[in-house]
Amino acid sequence: MKSLVIANWKMNPATAREAKKLFEATRKATEGAPHVSLVVAPPPIFFSEIRKSYKGKKIAFAAQNARAEAGGAFTGEISLGEYKDAGASYVIVGHAERRAMGETNEDTGKKVAAALALKMTPVLCVGEMKRGAGGEHFEVVRAQLRAGFAGVEAPHTARVIVVYEPLWTIGADKAMSPRDMHEMAIFIRKSIVDLKGPVGMNIKILYGGSVDGNNAPDMLKNGDVHGLLVGRASEDGIKLASLLEAIEEAA
Ligand code: PGA
Repeated sequence: MKSLVIANWKMNPATAREAKKLFEATRKATEGAPHVSLVVAPPPIFFSEIRKSYKGKKIAFAAQNARAEAGGAFTGEISLGEYKDAGASYVIVGHAERRAMGETNEDTGKKVAAALALKMTPVLCVGEMKRGAGGEHFEVVRAQLRAGFAGVEAPHTARVIVVYEPLWTIGADKAMSPRDMHEMAIFIRKSIVDLKGPVGMNIKILYGGSVDGNNAPDMLKNGDVHGLLVGRASEDGIKLASLLEAIEEAA
């Protein structure tokens, strides 16, 4: 089975020239990775140019964030429709860093529904800010799923991809253990089945947070996930190549 890898470049690199170089390295790395489906999410300012430069089929493109409304007075924002027109087929919704900047659960619900209406694939990120001993993080995740899936009609449930990326593992030293991820994946599936019925069993779940070539194979094998959302290890061509190689070796 292929693993889905979403390369979230965040606000990197600093120049268009470097972005082109990084994309070129990314493209080359995917050539040797038949077991990986790669989605690249470049910064908005570089999106169109990179998208236009790519004629292949192996890589798809994601918006790191987009506005649900079709148009209007939203200075500085970019709509889902505009991204779609520029060649995005995925959109990341509710990334922990966006939530920290004020994106609400309600916003995520609107974006997921709007993306589906445009036939784009929403990538809904969920995860707690921190973990206590009492298991409260399960309630946080359940509330995020309830809101994120609020506008999704049951038959479309499996068109949404869910990423579990707790804030405490993003940009950290260490990923979480595949065992803990496995537990969370079961919880996520169960929550979606509770919300939408048996179709929830078909949902694709990814893990995000300090993924690299060392921890990715174990996570893919034992974490009960279909893929990974990668920040730092995708912002450097060499690191990305070693991540994809590690996934291939284990495939
Ligand atoms: P990181 O970011 O891989 O740099 O920890 C992950 C994420 O944004 O989910």
